[in-house]
Amino acid sequence: MFPNVPLYPGFVMQRGGNMPVARRKVRLLCATMMLNVVIFFLVGVSWNLGRDKSDRPKVRIPSKRFWRKPVPSKYFWNKEQQRLDTIYNPIINSLPSDSIIELPDWLNDTGPVNPCEPDYRVATQISDYNTLPHRFQDFLLHMRCRTYPMLINQPHVCDQKPFLLLVVKSLIPHFDRRQAIRETWGRAGTLANRTVATVFLLGNALPIDHFPDLLGMLGHEAKLHKDLLLWDYRDTFFNLTLKDVLFLEWFSQNCPHAQYVLKGDDDVFVNTFRIIELLEGLSDIKAKDLFIGDVIKDAGPQRDRKLKYFVPESVFTGQYPAYAGGGGYLYSGELALRLHNVSRQVALYPIDDVYTGMCLKKLGLVPENHSGFKTFDIEEKYRDNPCVYRDLMLVHSRTPQDVLKIWPWITHPELDCQ
Ligand SMILES: *[C@@H]1O[C@H](CO)[C@@H](O)[C@H](O)[C@H]1NC(C)=O
Ligand SMILES: *[C@@H]1O[C@H](CO)[C@@H](O)[C@H](O)[C@H]1NC(C)=O
Ligand SMILES: *[C@@H]1O[C@H](CO)[C@@H](O)[C@H](O)[C@H]1NC(C)=O
Ligand SMILES: *[C@@H]1O[C@H](CO)[C@@H](O)[C@H](O)[C@H]1NC(C)=O
Ligand SMILES: *[C@@H]1O[C@H](CO)[C@@H](O)[C@H](O)[C@H]1NC(C)=O
Repeated sequence: MFPNVPLYPGFVMQRGGNMPVARRKVRLLCATMMLNVVIFFLVGVSWNLGRDKSDRPKVRIPSKRFWRKPVPSKYFWNKEQQRLDTIYNPIINSLPSDSIIELPDWLNDTGPVNPCEPDYRVATQISDYNTLPHRFQDFLLHMRCRTYPMLINQPHVCDQKPFLLLVVKSLIPHFDRRQAIRETWGRAGTLANRTVATVFLLGNALPIDHFPDLLGMLGHEAKLHKDLLLWDYRDTFFNLTLKDVLFLEWFSQNCPHAQYVLKGDDDVFVNTFRIIELLEGLSDIKAKDLFIGDVIKDAGPQRDRKLKYFVPESVFTGQYPAYAGGGGYLYSGELALRLHNVSRQVALYPIDDVYTGMCLKKLGLVPENHSGFKTFDIEEKYRDNPCVYRDLMLVHSRTPQDVLKIWPWITHPELDCQ
């Protein structure tokens, strides 16, 4: 059709009428300029309205009470958090001690005198308590207890200020996993000219759990390697948050000068060389607030009762903050101290990595995503490729045998990975 186009009357008229087009252009230009003038004027006026004569932004003092009357949340964890937010509210706390503040009973609820006694009131405070899975009932009964006796401590692990403290969540029977880590990525001492220290975090078992008594063997292991931390609480999935909080407490007392902390599970493989390399490359500003891992965003509680991460609505409602998957993440020792401080202000949540995300959020920080943290593993076809492990930071999950096989792959210089 193209060659015929000039034959269309309309088209011919336009091409022949050069004058009208030029005039229209001028008119359009004028209109645009006027519009610009009007916009400029309006912006100028609104800018000036927002300022007083001395040219400073105006501060509006509210004439009425500007906070909302606190209304108790219907959801148990959320309500407990409201309570903590009130206790630690900086405005309320900065008032002189003789000021009269009256809090509603639900915000000023101290519970049992000893927070480590089971709080049986929860059974009446949660509408569907009796139908909740047993592990939830158990969690809720002990939710306010954060102190448990230490059965095995290593107060000297950090005597030679570590550049990197490797912190491994383990379970008493996992002797082989711990040994594989000690022989490979978790070997304490000097690596790449940096001091590395390692600790394993352990809880205990109750007689009702019917575990064989391994404490004698554990005692030998502790004497031999001096890297076990054991607390006397029941080591279950929902108590992992407790493990985290107890570790932060231990850290602030026994290892506050460690420069960096890598916290991971005992079934991960860590490329300790790459971790140190990454840390050495950090700027001072970045190093202070460092928190990196495999970040999960826009998640929320699972409502399917069959799932491991199920959380009932009556316990928690809301979105999760961005958090790093618990398989392994890296943060600064300085931040560990701040996390320890702020953890008191965050109600224990049954999922430990989400809890850490909540604490970070309270500090006004966001975890940074790093593609080298493979907490959901790598594609199957790469799992036996030695060179792949040179470039990653951490991968989950690996057996002790895998760990012993992979470590030489990244330490042997003769392997050509180009
Ligand atoms: C909290 O309750 C206790 C006794 O139940 C009372 O002595 C105290 O004044 C209350 N505190 C506030 C801030 O309302
Ligand atoms: C090893 O580290 C120490 C102190 O961190 C430093 O003084 C020394 O130069 C380093 N040696 C090498 C070979 O990098
Ligand atoms: C956590 O540990 C405490 C102390 O041993 C125990 O009473 C509680 O049942 C445990 N909680 C869960 C959810 O296992
Ligand atoms: C922890 O909190 C205390 C008191 O609230 C404060 O003095 C201290 O500086 C805090 N430490 C860190 C590392 O933020
Ligand atoms: C983090 O990075 C991984 C890839 O390394 C990606 O799959 C994931 O979606 C990222 N997460 C966020 C929150 O961006």
